[in-house]
Order: sequence, then structure tokens, then C-alpha cells
Amino acid sequence: MTMPVPREADWDLAPGLLEGAMDLELTAEQCDLRYWLQAAVQGTLRGRPDGHDPRLTVGPHMLRGPFFDAIAQEYAFRSLAEEKATRVLSFLVANAPDVASMEFYATQLLDECRHSMVFRNHLLALGVPAQRLTQAVQDFADPYRTSVLEPLEQRCLEVMRDERDFIGGVVMMTVILEGALAPAAELSERKWRPLDPAAAEIDKGAGIDEIRHLTVGAWIGREYLREHPGERDRVVKMIRDGMRLWDELPTHQMVYDREVRFQEGLELHRDIVGDYEIWPGRRLIDTTPKERQDTADRWSDEMKTKRLVYMGLEEALR
Ligand SMILES: [Fe+2]
Ligand SMILES: [Fe+2]
Repeated sequence: MTMPVPREADWDLAPGLLEGAMDLELTAEQCDLRYWLQAAVQGTLRGRPDGHDPRLTVGPHMLRGPFFDAIAQEYAFRSLAEEKATRVLSFLVANAPDVASMEFYATQLLDECRHSMVFRNHLLALGVPAQRLTQAVQDFADPYRTSVLEPLEQRCLEVMRDERDFIGGVVMMTVILEGALAPAAELSERKWRPLDPAAAEIDKGAGIDEIRHLTVGAWIGREYLREHPGERDRVVKMIRDGMRLWDELPTHQMVYDREVRFQEGLELHRDIVGDYEIWPGRRLIDTTPKERQDTADRWSDEMKTKRLVYMGLEEALR
């Protein structure tokens, strides 16, 4: 029997990432492999194998100049981040303590692998030749490929591969990596919407998946800690260390650089952006790089706090 696509995975009915990831509750039992086949593969992704409606094409203003630089840097970085996430998730699949969480992480692994693919392939639509794609992804993601992604990957590998620490890996993914990166994705969807609608759809689809990753991840963390209360102090310390590591990385500089390029594009193409509002009552054309970055940072803090409170780990914030 097929089920209707659940609201949280329905292309037209799903809540936005922030609202969905903050307020929904989904369990690993609910979001098993069967759920994913119907809700994601036959639901969210239906008719969008490349992450967007195939009729959407990329306009000439995106193919060169500041908009090209901004999106190429962003998507190359995110494609590599998703690739690294896919690879480390294999250790959560391997070390999952039960079938429900094993199935869930197997689906998340494929989701991240797909995100990596659609971000990478969008560079083809932006005019990067196919034979140069792999190298172009590396080049556009520099220098943050080494300064941001490698230390994060290293830490994930220590926890998930070397120490085979399941709950540590769950918390790293949910709080430090996705909790922090998800709001940047929300910003991306909103700012590219009038300029590159295919990209905005790619972001929207990834955001729908992210709602599931964040809510189920937090549920798995909360249940695990209820059953293993002795692990709490160790996990709190781990989150604090993870947040400190994050703060030491040049992620701020990276986002700011991209926003500055984006701003140059806005100045050049005011006509395309028109009166489009990035959030209610605020026209994109009137925003500044700092304002956009500060807003994403605020979302990120709110999301992290909410997830930690939900898992009973708010102590990590003090
Ligand atoms: Fe992802
Ligand atoms: Fe994710």
C-alpha cells in the first residue's frame, strides 16, 4: 500500500527549514527506510532528479561576474561538505545500536550523497565544463576546503571511525555540523530565489531533507541519553569542545566573502531583484552582507539552543 506523502516531505506543503526543524518531532521508527522510499524518493524528489524542476534554466547574469563567483564558491564548498558528511555517516550506519537508527542513518547517508551531487552538478548548469568539474569543485572551495572542512572531517573521523562513538557522532552531526550549517542553507534559498530559481529549488529540497535529519537526529540523541544517563557529562563536554572548534574556524570570513561578492552582483543587477523580499518586510536589494550574515547566525544560535534543550543538554550552552 502506498501512503500519501507526509506533509513535512511534501514539496508544496512542507514547512520552511527553520520552522520545521524547530517545532516538529519525528522519531527514527517513524522515519525508517520504508518511510524514506515513499516520502523522499517518491515524494519530495518526484520529478526533480537534479534537485529542481528540469524546466528551470540559469540566466546569463549567473554565468559570469560576481553572482557566478558567489554561487560557485558556495556550491563547491557545500558539495564537498556533503561528500564528507556522506563518508563519515557510513560509520554511524556501521555503529548504530538498533535497526531503526541504522535504517535512518542509511537514508541520511544517501540524502547527503545526493545533496553533494546536486550542488556539484549545478556548476555544470552554470557553465563549468564536465571534464573540469572535479577539479573546479576543489578550486572554488579553496581556501576553506582546507581551513574549515578538513579540521571538521578530522574530528568526525576521530569520534565516529576511531572511537566508534555512536552518540558522540549523532551529537556532532545534529548540533555542531547540521545545526550550524542549516541556517546558511535557508539564507541561500531565500537570496537565490529571484536570481537562480533552480538553485533555490535545490536548496529548498535539501532543506526538506534537513528537517528530517535534525529532528530525527535530536530524537535519537535524546532517547539514547535517557537510556544511558551516565553518558551525559561526556556528551556535554564533547558539544562544548565541538562548539569551540567551530568558533576557531574561519567560517565567518568564508560566509562574509561570499556575501560581499553577492552584494556586488546585487548592485549590477538591481533590475532582476526588483522589490523581492528576502524576509517579510525587507527587500533583498536593501540588505547588506553583514545583515544577511547576522540573520543566519541568529537562526543558527536559535536552532542549536532548541535542539540542545530538546535533548536535555542545555548545560552545554553555559
Ligand atoms: Fe545535506
Ligand atoms: Fe543533512
